[in-house]
Amino acid sequence: MALQKFQHFMLKEIYEQPEVIRHSLNDPNKAFQVLPTLDQVEEIQILACGTSFHAGLVGQFLLEQVAGIPTRVRSASEFLAAPFPRTRNTLLMVVSQSGETADVLAAMQAVKQSSGGAFKILAITNNSQSSIATEADCEISVAAGVETSVAATKTFTAQLALFYGLAFFYARQGQHLSHEQLKGWNAQLDALPAQVEKVLQQEATIAAIAASLKDTKTLILLGTGINYPLALEGALKLKETTYTHAEGYAAGEFLHGPIALLDQTIPAIAICPSQPSRSASAERILKVAQKISSNGSDVILLGGSDAAIVLPPCEELLSPFLNIVPLQLLAYHLAIARTIDVDRPRNITKFLKSS
Ligand code: M6R
Repeated sequence: MALQKFQHFMLKEIYEQPEVIRHSLNDPNKAFQVLPTLDQVEEIQILACGTSFHAGLVGQFLLEQVAGIPTRVRSASEFLAAPFPRTRNTLLMVVSQSGETADVLAAMQAVKQSSGGAFKILAITNNSQSSIATEADCEISVAAGVETSVAATKTFTAQLALFYGLAFFYARQGQHLSHEQLKGWNAQLDALPAQVEKVLQQEATIAAIAASLKDTKTLILLGTGINYPLALEGALKLKETTYTHAEGYAAGEFLHGPIALLDQTIPAIAICPSQPSRSASAERILKVAQKISSNGSDVILLGGSDAAIVLPPCEELLSPFLNIVPLQLLAYHLAIARTIDVDRPRNITKFLKSS
């Protein structure tokens, strides 16, 4: 893989995201026909680790809120210690960029053994030849192209695109959305690549924010609803590429104790949905942001009209595609400001064959 005009693979892969979304939405090989029909699915379970786990949390939100299917997510690394109780007519989705992560493979094999074939297992990977893809009952590739940087970026976006596809697929079957509504969502999905390109144009602003955080040791990220997993994912990107102690919280939950952590040295990044009209989520985030700044800590608003990083207006349901980009760019530029080898951060490899 060539770097072309980019200095690092992480940056190149961040910039590939509009194309990844475009391709994911129009990929004729995304054969949802391999899936059981809605009348055969009483529950969906999702297993994954790290960034793929965060994509799974967005997937859970979509499958429950858009398609109305009860959905559980568990970190595959905890699954053997705490397997899901037995359920009927369950579709298990095993999500792994590499398709080789040992914890994910072991969890999938345990389900296979204990369910005696009663579960349908779908692998969602970026490598159709991988162990997870070949051992599952069926596979849908996210087809993001090779990801070289240790930090997952474009594969997260490709996993998101797939979960939107799955949620709309089952929502259509369950008649949770009318033909007209689906047409509306499809039009908005089609607009996403151009909107992500607009977000990428703010790289210089984000680099300046990163420079101002060069000596920051702890960062708090806040999100709510579909953007809560984005706070977790942003924090993971910051931890692994910049070695910052970054924690993601659901905005409301942050008030139940963790807010005591804050002092003037700890800024918070608040992810505020920037849809045309102010949503309940935006109100919730802004209220928490106000409380934090009245306590004397800095708040960096991502999205919303008074934001440090202004995002194009977008329905909240689709906003993860836009919100993830500044968080990835922030992690990238903070790593560069700290002269960290951003494509190969210390102590981690692209995937863990065994834990
Ligand atoms: O290949 P996988 O998606 O199974 O990998 C899971 C995690 O190890 C991975 O997402 C890890 O957290 C990345 N370094 C995140 O950038």
